[in-house]
Order: sequence, then structure tokens, then C-alpha cells
Amino acid sequence: MVSLPFFAFIAVLPYALSLATPRQAVDFFDPTLNGGSMLDDAGDGLGEPLNVIISSLSSPDVLTESGFENYAKAIGFSTECLGIHIGGPQSANLGDGNGFVNQTVELRQDYGDATLGTCLESLIGGNHLRLYIQNGPDHNTGALFLAVSKEEDAEENHDIVPDGYDIGRDQLSANAIGTTSFGGVTYSTTGTNITGLLPAGSDGVNHDIATDGITTLLTVTIV
Ligand SMILES: *[C@@H]1O[C@H](CO)[C@@H](O)[C@H](O)[C@H]1NC(C)=O
Ligand SMILES: *[C@@H]1O[C@H](CO)[C@@H](O)[C@H](O)[C@H]1NC(C)=O
Repeated sequence: MVSLPFFAFIAVLPYALSLATPRQAVDFFDPTLNGGSMLDDAGDGLGEPLNVIISSLSSPDVLTESGFENYAKAIGFSTECLGIHIGGPQSANLGDGNGFVNQTVELRQDYGDATLGTCLESLIGGNHLRLYIQNGPDHNTGALFLAVSKEEDAEENHDIVPDGYDIGRDQLSANAIGTTSFGGVTYSTTGTNITGLLPAGSDGVNHDIATDGITTLLTVTIV
């Protein structure tokens, strides 16, 4: 015979489980559902596509600014050349209740040298990213949204190469997927493509460069 305490246990089980579940166990929140946009604001009424998302289901240590910078170094990016920043910040509205917020950090391809390689990127061009964190009061998922693009060299004023958004996204994810490490931390990264978040084409896109409308979702686990 089943005892009363057993029924009491069954009754509180869903409640206990909901307490044990992370606050928002989702990869990310779609910014467009709460007044945000999958294009950032480049300051000229146009924007760069947020074409890579690091899932909030990644290891929590990857989802901080310093944790992300270490991960970025593992996949070929670093802080800007000697801390010298080229160009103004861009802002994004991730629909998380924070409204438009400036990029947290801007990183460049480091050509295999985390200290000086980004100086080379500044000269010869290469891959480039801006980071935005979805951490506002409405949808505090912790997901990282990246605007990734491949740039021309300095003589071309750091414009984006033709097809540079899709190329930048694919280069970053190709470097990221699989096993990588930096600074004694090893990462295992999986990726999937999402369509329907970003419209394909060049409407509203800075430099009038069309994209295929794909956002790549990366989930990064520290192993
Ligand atoms: C972004 O930073 C610039 C320069 O520091 C500042 O003028 C601007 O108000 C900031 N924008 C936002 C949305 O915080
Ligand atoms: C996403 O789509 C692009 C374009 O088709 C492709 O090059 C890339 O390999 C795909 N990435 C993943 C993780 O499937």
C-alpha cells in the first residue's frame, strides 16, 4: 500500500524540480520579440548582423567578459593591437530590457600571437568581432551575441570585405567547433545554424553587404 508521505512527495516534486532548474534554461532570447534587433547600430542608421550567438547553456565561465576573452584567444582572436582601438563603438538592443548598450569589447584575429597579432590584423585586415551580452532585467539569459565580420586592410579603412559577414561568421565557427584551448582551459564547442532570426539580404545592413540570413549558435563547454 502506498503511504500518504509518498503522495505528498509526488505533490511537491514539480515544485522542487522547478527550483532546481536554472532560471532561464534557453539558448538565448530572440531580441526581436521584445523591441530589439538582430542588427546592431553602427551609428548611421544601419547595422552589422549579430551572426553568432554563444548559448547561455554554455559553461558559465565562458559567459563572462574575461572568460569569453580567454575563449576568443583559443579560437584565434585577441584584444585590439596594444589596446589601441580603431573606430567608434557600436551598440545593440538585445530585447533584454536594457535598450541599446555599447559593445562590451571588440576583438580581432590574432594570427597566432595573442599579444601582437592583432596589430597585424589592423594592418592587413582579417576577422573581427564585437561582443554584446544579453543580461538585462527582462531576459537575463546570459547569452553572448557577436557581430562578426572580415575586414579589409588599413588602407581600405577597415571596411568589410565583400560577403564579409558570412565569411567572418563561418571562419570563426570553423575555428571554434571541436576542441580548443588557451591559458590552461580546454573547450569543447558544438555549432548549429539557425535561419529565420536574421532576414537574408542587405536591408538595413551596414556597407550594403548582403548576408545569407544564417546565425550560428555555438555551445561551449569547458572540459
Ligand atoms: C556608446 O559610447 C559612446 C562613446 O563613448 C557614447 O557617446 C554613446 O552615448 C554610447 N552609447 C550608448 C548606447 O551607451
Ligand atoms: C552554417 O552555414 C554556412 C553556410 O551554409 C556553412 O558554411 C557553415 O558550415 C554552417 N555551420 C554549421 C555549424 O553548420
